[in-house]
Amino acid sequence: MEKRTNSPYPRIDRPILATIGLVLVGATAFFAYSDRQHDYKWYQAEFRQMVAEKFGADRAATVPSGLQQVWVPGLQRADRCTTCHVATTWNGFETAEEPWRTHPPEILASHPPERFGCTACHGGQGWAIDTDEAHGELAHWEEPLLSSWLGEAYSMGDRKSQLLQMNCNACHRYDKSTPGADLINRAKAIVEDKGCRACHVINGRGGTIGPDLTSVGEKAPEQYEFGRLSGQKTAFAWHVAHFKDPRALVQDTVMPNFHLSTVDAQALAMLVLSWKPAKMGSELVVGVPRVDPQTPEQKQAEEEMKHGPGAWFVQTGCFVCHSISALNVKSPAQIGPDLSTAVEDTQSRFGQTVDDFIMNPTGTMSVVLSRQIVLDTEQRKVAIQHLREAYAAHQAKAAAGAAPAAGAAGAPPSGGQR
Ligand code: HEC
Ligand code: HEC
Ligand code: HEC
Ligand code: HEC
Ligand code: HEC
Repeated sequence: MEKRTNSPYPRIDRPILATIGLVLVGATAFFAYSDRQHDYKWYQAEFRQMVAEKFGADRAATVPSGLQQVWVPGLQRADRCTTCHVATTWNGFETAEEPWRTHPPEILASHPPERFGCTACHGGQGWAIDTDEAHGELAHWEEPLLSSWLGEAYSMGDRKSQLLQMNCNACHRYDKSTPGADLINRAKAIVEDKGCRACHVINGRGGTIGPDLTSVGEKAPEQYEFGRLSGQKTAFAWHVAHFKDPRALVQDTVMPNFHLSTVDAQALAMLVLSWKPAKMGSELVVGVPRVDPQTPEQKQAEEEMKHGPGAWFVQTGCFVCHSISALNVKSPAQIGPDLSTAVEDTQSRFGQTVDDFIMNPTGTMSVVLSRQIVLDTEQRKVAIQHLREAYAAHQAKAAAGAAPAAGAAGAPPSGGQR
């Protein structure tokens, strides 16, 4: 049998053990309790108070309590934002502080929360019920709330609350313009105006000199070369800087510097970052088919040019970037110079005859002729012949006194020139 030794502290050992036990039980209960205490309970209680003061106790009793959740089948998301944002669909709290403010009603009328949830537009982490987690202010969460404070961090000035338009365009990608998404609309107009499609496939149509931009918004941060970027190292900042001066980030890119304003560069950055594969049910994406259509005017102009004297330039694809005004060919993008006077301009611009330039091009044209419009030696001779014809037509017009001043057809300054 075991022999017990007497405790050296016979009077206090039991009380000490009992106290430790009690502290443990108490601590467990306290942690369990505080784990169940979330801020949302306070927000809900406060809102009930506000409703009681404004509309009386009866209405206050209808304020929901506990976790609120919207399940959105088309997005496979459960959004619990209304757990705190209790006033979303209540009238009368338009000027209250967040999270007790009435939501702007127009946008929810066309996108009812039962069908769209909240995070499709705002970003954030739908199922979280604490503020920082819900708003995505935690490490490794890829969809932070596109809030005004993030817009401020991105230096968007008085447009800081418009960052969420990026998310509008996940569904409205194929709209020409979307009421309420001004910055995105502005960027879409620039894409048309500057002729980005001369070099990039965008929504299924365009050239191959630059990368296909269909899913460029999905590039992971590690895939960006941030070495030449000063300041914030974010995808957004990279694109803004790249749009303002492509060469500053990619030394020998042929992407032109379009001399964009900061706002235009930011709008374009939002637009290209919105180009991700849609992760939503097709019933939520507006306006299939998935290829941007050409307008009837664009089609007709192209048709007319196809059969005129400048037909070769149109069929070969040079007109995507070049007007040839002497032959009535008008480029939609005008990225390169008017080719009517190329025969004499290559001398001054490149110090080469046009024959040498076409046979051994430099700059953008070396990329064009090796990647987008691949011409063998015979075909290049044909090209030179057509350039001479264009020049002859230009001189004939000049002699007739009806010359369109060379270059005046509006080639914008090209970043491709050396
Ligand atoms: C735990 C409570 C809580 C939850 C859950 C919550 N929010 Fe909030 N939200 C707040 C509070 C509090 C504010 C005001 C904070 C402030 O101004 O600092 C706020 C502010 C906002 C704002 C205004 C930001 C701006 O641009 O000024 C937006 C938008 C927002 N929340 C969206 C959401 C979305 C979307 C969700 C769901 C993913 C969500 N919230 C979940 C508490 C919450
Ligand atoms: C269809 C898109 C869309 C959906 C869905 C949507 N919102 Fe909004 N929300 C907006 C727009 C647009 C604004 C106005 C932003 C601005 O210009 O200030 C806004 C504003 C807000 C604001 C105020 C932000 C501020 O800057 O003052 C909060 C908070 C908010 N929404 C929360 C929610 C919650 C919670 C849900 C889900 C019940 C939701 N939203 C669903 C588009 C949406
Ligand atoms: C999850 C996808 C989705 C998101 C995100 C989204 N929309 Fe929509 N939107 C739709 C669908 C679907 C319709 C209905 C289209 C239809 O009627 O064919 C629609 C309709 C509209 C309409 C037309 C409304 C009407 O009454 O005809 C406008 C304007 C609009 N959205 C603007 C916006 C703006 C602004 C945002 C961002 C704040 C946004 N949408 C975000 C899917 C979305
Ligand atoms: C003359 C051809 C040309 C034109 C015109 C052009 N780009 Fe580019 N673009 C390129 C090339 C080449 C690259 C790859 C090298 C680089 O990043 O600069 C590129 C890169 C890009 C990238 C980065 C892609 C990535 O995967 O990181 C974006 C975004 C982009 N262009 C958008 C545009 C937009 C928007 C326009 C119109 C405003 C435009 N580009 C006009 C040639 C062009
Ligand atoms: C993707 C746009 C693009 C396409 C397509 C394109 N070019 Fe160019 N081209 C340019 C740019 C930009 C320049 C200006 C030089 C530079 O930036 O390197 C240029 C310059 C030239 C020049 C020199 C003109 C001068 O005045 O100095 C000639 C000649 C020329 N291209 C011929 C052609 C021909 C012929 C085709 C069709 C086979 C063609 N280009 C297709 C973009 C293009």
